[in-house]
Amino acid sequence: MIRPFIKWAGGKSRVLPDLLPHLPKADCLIEPFVGGASVFLATEYRCYVLADINPDLINLYRCLTSYTDLVIEAAQEIFENFNDAEGYGKIRTAFNTQRRSASKCSHTLENIGRAVRFIYLNRHCCNGVCRYSKKTGFNVPFGKYKSVYFADNEIRLFAEKANDTKAIFLCAPFERSLQVVTGGDVLVYCDPPYLPESKTADFTQYCTELFTEDNHRQLVQALLEVNRKHGVKVVISNSDTETTREIYHRFRLHDIDVQRSVSTDASNSQKAKEVIGVLKVFEGCGRAGGGRCPDCGPCAGYSMWGEAVGEEPF
Ligand SMILES: C[S@@+](CC[C@H](N)C(=O)[O-])C[C@H]1O[C@@H](n2cnc3c(N)ncnc32)[C@H](O)[C@@H]1O
Repeated sequence: MIRPFIKWAGGKSRVLPDLLPHLPKADCLIEPFVGGASVFLATEYRCYVLADINPDLINLYRCLTSYTDLVIEAAQEIFENFNDAEGYGKIRTAFNTQRRSASKCSHTLENIGRAVRFIYLNRHCCNGVCRYSKKTGFNVPFGKYKSVYFADNEIRLFAEKANDTKAIFLCAPFERSLQVVTGGDVLVYCDPPYLPESKTADFTQYCTELFTEDNHRQLVQALLEVNRKHGVKVVISNSDTETTREIYHRFRLHDIDVQRSVSTDASNSQKAKEVIGVLKVFEGCGRAGGGRCPDCGPCAGYSMWGEAVGEEPF
């Protein structure tokens, strides 16, 4: 199994043994919240659409898929030459002051430069956190690690898999990436920023906007819609809280225990509860007698949409 080459808060590597059995077979996996791409790397779908709202993340995936050697060589160089707090400050400033050029060719070079600095910042910043302020941009302090791992092998394996599967990378909020779902043998897996476990818990901020309770409600509506209209399978992950269970009550929820690190010290970890929610597609709603139902599109039996909205089987 290929390991992610970046550190990403909420990455699914540790829960893969619990998660993978809930991901059904499909031709194509669509991930609107791809993050560190651990699910992409651990699965064997024929094709992938990988989306995220973070433009630096998607720029990185695109650049290293097209210019693998260039990205690795340039990243290796700054890993070697800027491996202290002062060097970190220089790279972060360069990242935050970078402007995009109008010409197409230098635009590509600018993007590659940004991708290289993003890999560097991810590995050298405190805990691999990705946080931006509207004023100053990427604002995570230096990580003070004894040694920093340069994941060139994992980067190559990522690029190989992305090229082999012709993965499509989209930088978009989930509402827009879900618009690419128009049917077919598709699984949508959603791993949004989690609902906080308590009112005082830290909220993970991957871009300048927070992901609110309302966003979770909108996500559920959008997922029910793609399930109803296009008959696609949907699986979600989230923290196990009362609010999660209320908002995601239309999903079949499976609870799991997760070991989470709470500091740079790997031995300092605690257990947390999470849920995996499955919105199953049954064989159709039966209204159209195996034909095309005006409500559900192509269907031939009792659909999960009916079950999801509390409809009795008929
Ligand atoms: C929990 S992480 C996903 C982790 C990923 N499954 C992994 O294994 O690394 C959530 C991701 O959602 C993205 N995100 C936050 N708000 C979003 C939005 N409105 N639309 C799409 N993506 C969003 C964040 O940038 C972050 O990468």
